[in-house]
This record gives sequence, structure tokens and C-alpha cells, in this order.
Amino acid sequence: MNAFVVNGPTPLEGEVRISGAKNSALKAMAASLLVPAKVTLDRVPRITDVTLMAQVLQHLGARVEFEQNRLTIDASGDLLDETPYELVKKMRASIQVLGPLLARLGRARLAMPGGDAIGSRPIDLHLQGLERMGAKFTSQHGYVEGVADRLKGVRVLLEFPSVGATENLLMAGVLAEGTTTIENAAREPEIQDLVAFLVGAGARITGAGTPTITVEGVDQLGEVRHEIIPDRIEAGTYGIAAVATQGDVSLIDLRPEHLELPFIKLEDAGAEVIRSDGEVRIRMSRRPSTLDLVTLPYPGFPTDLQPPMMVLLSQAEGPSILTENVFEARFMFVDELNRMGARIRVEGHHAVIRGVERLSGAPVRAPDIRAGAALVLGGLCAEGRTEVYDPGHVGRGYEDFAGKLRSLGADVSVEER
Ligand code: UD1
Repeated sequence: MNAFVVNGPTPLEGEVRISGAKNSALKAMAASLLVPAKVTLDRVPRITDVTLMAQVLQHLGARVEFEQNRLTIDASGDLLDETPYELVKKMRASIQVLGPLLARLGRARLAMPGGDAIGSRPIDLHLQGLERMGAKFTSQHGYVEGVADRLKGVRVLLEFPSVGATENLLMAGVLAEGTTTIENAAREPEIQDLVAFLVGAGARITGAGTPTITVEGVDQLGEVRHEIIPDRIEAGTYGIAAVATQGDVSLIDLRPEHLELPFIKLEDAGAEVIRSDGEVRIRMSRRPSTLDLVTLPYPGFPTDLQPPMMVLLSQAEGPSILTENVFEARFMFVDELNRMGARIRVEGHHAVIRGVERLSGAPVRAPDIRAGAALVLGGLCAEGRTEVYDPGHVGRGYEDFAGKLRSLGADVSVEER
């Protein structure tokens, strides 16, 4: 079994270049199914989830090539309508092909998703919205099957600004008849990037980045080239790591405006955050101050940065309270962190964190992408040796995680145990 092996503590120092955003690349890939012509995506991160999505597209009949960080997709041929359990169970984001397949083929059959172990993640909002657009769903044997003649533009009010539901609906609306309006839409930068991609291909969409997105259906999309935005979660992870290890790290090639609140929180914790165009330097020279933090949809504090923030606060000078509002089971890794000497108590969706002076290295297990990265970060802060098992989770979302950390001075490797 493989593990990240980390010998700490090490203050991270140096520069790290930020990769393209996982959550943007995956959606542009799914949206390529709407395009019966060549799609070129640049700055695509080389991570396992991208490979999995490429397999989904290939299974459906698209041609996919991946060289360096450039991905080309050609979905101009005949497409299949079924995405099997073997692929969907490995990655929940596979459900983003539902809207595009319904729009393009008028039918789709999809295994119900599995994916991260971070709580029950239903797809009711996706299905309700698509039903309003005229799709009919049945579900049996673990599969959901949808049919629609031509989808119709309607007004959909989302009960919660779900990222995935917003994306599925706007992708479905692109080829629908008439105008689709999504109210209480998610505002995440990845949605704005998906819209930029689709507009480049000929879609007519306004309002991305606001709670109301309007999509005017068109008959067909065409060839497009698009560069994926920088990964704000990757950037935030290294920024938090800089502060937690009391280091000095420059994040290169990012969009600082996508991390406004996380950077303010790092300043509140005592860090110096020097922002310039496309670059941010983060310095810290003492134990962090305590913070209260609440995760919320964008532009609130991102749930994906909650686990690394928990590691940072586990060493703060006093107690902090962290409230998780987006995913119910995202505190599952707390027991692992407590094995490293942290003092964290979970009460429902609140975590009470009593800072300790120093974590201590221990063998732990990564339950999902972000918690896995956070445990490695714990190892960088801890005295002695930490082994983080199931490192594959981290490789799903972080391009060359160990290599980038080593370039910042960390003693970390992936070893066969
Ligand atoms: C995306 C991101 C994930 C991030 C999350 C929130 C990708 C591939 N993943 O996930 O990294 O943590 O946004 O920023 O982009 N929900 C429902 N019914 C639905 C859909 C969602 O109840 O039909 C609930 C979920 O269970 C969860 C909450 O809404 O509690 C947020 O989910 P959502 O915004 O849809 O996240 P994802 O798109 O799955």
C-alpha cells in the first residue's frame, strides 16, 4: 500500500506555480459533449480526475488526446448515451455529462454517483431542474435514465446554489428551445469559466457570477479553444500551508480575487499577505491567532479549504470554532488529525479546535482529496514522521503535490509501504 511519508516540521519557502482548476477542467470536458467539433483546452491539470473524465468521454464516443497540459476533445461522431457504474463510482463529477447528453441526444442513462466520502450528496436538484425543462426520469437498478425530445427553456429556482446543478442546467439550456433562467445559481469562479468556454463555442449566456444566469438556446455550437482558470483551491492549500508551517511562499500565476476571503482569514490569523497581479506572497513568523470560520457557497469561505484550515487552527494560540455548512460529513478526517495530537471536538456541523503548540507525526489515512492534502500538511507541521495512507485521493485533485511541496523545501515522498 502506498503512503505519503513526511518528515517534519518544515517551514515552506519559495515559489509555487498554480495549475489549472480541477473543478473547471472537469466541467469544460463534460460540456465538450455539446460541441460537434474540435475542442482545445489549455492548462488542464494532470490529475487522476481528469484522466477519469477523459475515460468517461471516450466511453461515450468522443476522441480525447492529452499532451502536456493541453487536452483536445472531438465529440463530432455518434455518441453513446450511457455512463456505467465503473466510471461514475470513481468520480461524482461524471454526473455533469447528464445535462449535455440530454441536450445533445435527447436521452441519457447514468449510474447513480459515488465519489468522495464526504456525506450524502444527492442529485435531486439536478433532476428537478432538468424535469422542469421537459426531461422525464426513471430510476432502477442503480441507474437513472432520462429522456427528452428537445429540452425547453424555463425559469428554475434552485433551493440551494448547488455548483453541480447550476452547471448541469446551464449546459442543458445551451441547446434548449427558448430561454432558461437559473435563479439562486451558484457563483463560483469555475461556473464563470464554464460559461466563458461555452460562449467561446457560440452559446448565449449572461449573468455568470451573479445569482441569476440566463441562457438563450442556440441550434449548434462550434470549434473552441479555451484556457482553464488557475485552481483557487490548490493555491489556497499552499497559502494555508505557508502559514501553518510558519514559512514564506509566493503563489505564482493565480487569480488573487478568487481567494479574497481565505486571504483575509490568513491575515486575521497573523500572516502577511502581499498581493500583486497574478502573484501573492504569504509570510508567517509565529503561531496563528485563533479564528472563527464558517464555510459557505462562493464568495463565502470554500468548503474545500476547510480541512487545511483545520490543520492551521489546530496549532493556533487558543480555541477556534469552525462551522461546516456545505457538506455534512466533511469532519470525517478529524479523528485522524487528533491522532496527530490535535485537540478537536466535533458537535454536529461545528468543530471546536483547541490549539496545541506542536502536532506529532503519526500514521493516518486520507479519506478524500482535500482531507488527504490537509493530513500531509499536518505532517509538515508535526514533529517526526507522518505516513498518510491512500495517497491516491490527493492525486485526484492536486497536480504533482509531493513534487511541488519538495520544491518548497518539504521532506515528503510517496513510498510503497
Ligand atoms: C462542487 C465541487 C466540490 C466543492 C463543492 C462546493 C466539483 C467537481 N466539485 O461539488 O469540490 O466542494 O462544489 O463548493 O466541482 N446538494 C443537494 N442536491 C443536489 C446537489 C447538491 O442536496 O442535487 C447538496 C450537496 O449534498 C451538498 C451541497 O448541496 O451538501 C453542495 O453541493 P454542490 O454545490 O452541488 O457541490 P458539487 O457540485 O457536488
